[in-house]
Amino acid sequence: MIRKAAQILARQAWFRKLVMSTPIVRELAGRFVGGEDLASALAAARGANARGLKTTLNFHGMHVLDLAEAEGAAQQAMDALVRIREEGLDSNVSIKLTKIGLDLDPAYCQLQLRRILECAAGTGGFVRIDMEESNYVETTLRVFEEMQDRFGNGTVGLVIQSYLRHRAGDLDRLLDRKASIRLVKGGYREPASQVFRSKAEVDAAFNRDIERLLLRGVSPAIATHDEAAIAWTLAVQARLGLGREAFEFQMLYGVRPDLQERLLADGCTVRCYIPYGGDWATHAVGCLRRIPAGALTRFRHSLHLS
Ligand code: FDA
Repeated sequence: MIRKAAQILARQAWFRKLVMSTPIVRELAGRFVGGEDLASALAAARGANARGLKTTLNFHGMHVLDLAEAEGAAQQAMDALVRIREEGLDSNVSIKLTKIGLDLDPAYCQLQLRRILECAAGTGGFVRIDMEESNYVETTLRVFEEMQDRFGNGTVGLVIQSYLRHRAGDLDRLLDRKASIRLVKGGYREPASQVFRSKAEVDAAFNRDIERLLLRGVSPAIATHDEAAIAWTLAVQARLGLGREAFEFQMLYGVRPDLQERLLADGCTVRCYIPYGGDWATHAVGCLRRIPAGALTRFRHSLHLS
């Protein structure tokens, strides 16, 4: 209920303005986002790189139904690729297909993606396609496979979600194609018919997939803040006799920075996902929701919600 209300609020322009003009909230929210524009996101990436973290930049938002907005999102991705190259940053780009027009017209979206990937190929960059709700999975896989055939693994990769009930075969399908995969638990509210709901079931599926990915994956990425899953990954890596450079951990910008630093100190590769852009408040509110109670109380007081 609170979560739903927070998500609805976060999409309102007046709420975003209120958040941004409330110093303590702005400060707290700012921990989780790169800023409102590409220049701020690049600065965040520069800072992260200086601390030893690789990054991936995401012009935040999804389900765009306006052609100009979808066009603008594609342009953002291309601008990011060019600037990453110009600045020599250790960064790539993550995109959501519904941000660049999948809900408008799949063929148009594919055209947009092709332009982005041509730019990535021309700048030596890499684009990861985020995975969205379950009803987009099959289309996303098909689009990805076509792009992988055209541009290769060094230019485009995909995300696989372990919480999906009926799609365990997708990982094998992509491993057979030697695709570059980011593995996640899965982040959307979905019907129980589509996804595992209990933490135990999701964690078991995630652990199973981590092992499959480490065993056969090309440049595998495990995206999680779950310390048990991280410990499992390291145990599997040691059991398989792999080096720590054989895979990377990925985490959200500003989430568990202590853990990110600890993994770096242990010789792991860590990449953080930096959302930026006008729709950043939705993401920041989602993260604020999960930070410790003390800080959240200060957040609510500053908004006069309690
Ligand atoms: P879990 O949910 O068990 O959380 C472990 C710990 O981390 C908990 O203490 C929790 O509170 C904390 N935590 C987790 N998320 C937090 C947050 N946002 N803010 C503050 N604390 C947080 N999903 C998807 O469906 N498609 C995608 O493309 C992606 N892409 C993606 C990229 C990257 C880099 C990451 C890290 C995650 C994603 N996800 C995603 C989201 C993913 O599916 C999952 O929902 C989150 O990572 C949370 O799950 P954990 O594995 O962290 O475990």
